[in-house]
Amino acid sequence: MYVNVAVLKETQPHERRVALVPSVVAKLIKLGAKLHMQSGAGDAIKLYDAAFKDVVFMDDRKALVSDADVVLAVQPPALEVIDAMKEGAILISFIFAKKEQALVKRLLEKKVTCFAMERVPRITRAQAMDALSSQSALAGYYAVQLGATHLARILPKITTAAGVIGPAKVLVMGLGVAGLEAIATAHRLGAVVEGYDVRPETEEQAQSLGAKFVETGVDARGEGGYARELSSEEKTKVAAVLTEHIQQADLIITTAAIPGRPSPKLISKKQVAGMKAGAVIVDLSAEGGGNCDDTQPGETVLIGQITIVAPLNIPSLLGEDASELYAKNQYNLLALMMKDNIITLDWDDEILAKTVLTHAGEMRDHAPKNKAKHEAKHGERTKHKVNGPATKVA
Ligand SMILES: NC(=O)c1ccc[n+]([C@@H]2O[C@H](COP(=O)([O-])OP(=O)(O)OC[C@H]3O[C@@H](n4cnc5c(N)ncnc54)[C@H](O)[C@@H]3O)[C@@H](O)[C@H]2O)c1
Repeated sequence: MYVNVAVLKETQPHERRVALVPSVVAKLIKLGAKLHMQSGAGDAIKLYDAAFKDVVFMDDRKALVSDADVVLAVQPPALEVIDAMKEGAILISFIFAKKEQALVKRLLEKKVTCFAMERVPRITRAQAMDALSSQSALAGYYAVQLGATHLARILPKITTAAGVIGPAKVLVMGLGVAGLEAIATAHRLGAVVEGYDVRPETEEQAQSLGAKFVETGVDARGEGGYARELSSEEKTKVAAVLTEHIQQADLIITTAAIPGRPSPKLISKKQVAGMKAGAVIVDLSAEGGGNCDDTQPGETVLIGQITIVAPLNIPSLLGEDASELYAKNQYNLLALMMKDNIITLDWDDEILAKTVLTHAGEMRDHAPKNKAKHEAKHGERTKHKVNGPATKVA
């Protein structure tokens, strides 16, 4: 007896990542998996089929998933993949349900149990499964490298016989996982770094990584450790303080996001017009519309003398490391449900209960009916708790 696991080749444009890497194969087999993979799934990052031992490769995607107990992917799969899956099988991938209504409908119709990687709760026990964090950390690092290649100057201070140049000033706006990694990278490269966020707890985090914190006096802590949207008065107050810092920066990296909302605008056209000639903005929030009024998602644009770089899907550009971390995140999640060659879904496990999106033809993303009462009894962390019998597969 074993659990049939199928790994898809990604089909979305520019997606180079893959949900299985060789270092995870033996661990999955130890849990009881029999591994199948679509031929060429790792080709985009030069991880050719021959690099995978003990994995069966198949060309036909439908045949691959039709016998699978578990399907692994990075991006939300195409509808025909769901159509080909067995009723009651498990899908684990990023889903972002609000943007994927047709896919969710199909998951419900096929009674697929879908665990959406973006739903993994931000709690300590789930850190090893948190793909949003692992991918964001890479993006934060890459933003600094990308910005540096667009700057016509260096980041560190260098002393030469002809004189001293540098260091450059880097401002990081939005200090979640990506922003903090950007601070650490820019600091390592010798820049003078400033950080800004609306959550006051980020002040100490920024300072511990070598940045000076820009204090605006606005506290926008929201639910679940995330930020809330600012009122228009708060935005005016913040803009007044930030303008000076924006105009002194050589490189600005923006990463600000509010879950389920478009990216907040942190840099206006007027502020861009007042920036130093040759300065660069790298906008990591392009997927949500961008943090700068002049951002064009997916494009690099020159506005006056300022370059604004707004790449999409940065983790895919670092596909090798991003796949390595993503595959480990998925393995750690699977390890919660796979043991001794069977799958057991324990809905009393907070991580499984909060990560599941659909199960047995029902949406499982609901908040409890009496939220206030529930939170008083169980605390914030269990608010999506779903109760049900353990499910065994195979
Ligand atoms: N396992 C864990 O405990 C764990 C793991 C990862 C993240 N987290 C927490 O989850 C939260 C979100 O992290 P994330 O990386 O997903 O963040 P995110 O991508 O949701 O947002 C990035 C940053 O933008 C900031 N932001 C939002 N609006 C802003 C504005 N108007 N101006 C400036 N900054 C603004 C947010 O405060 C956040 O720091 C954080 O509190 C983080 O510490 C916890």
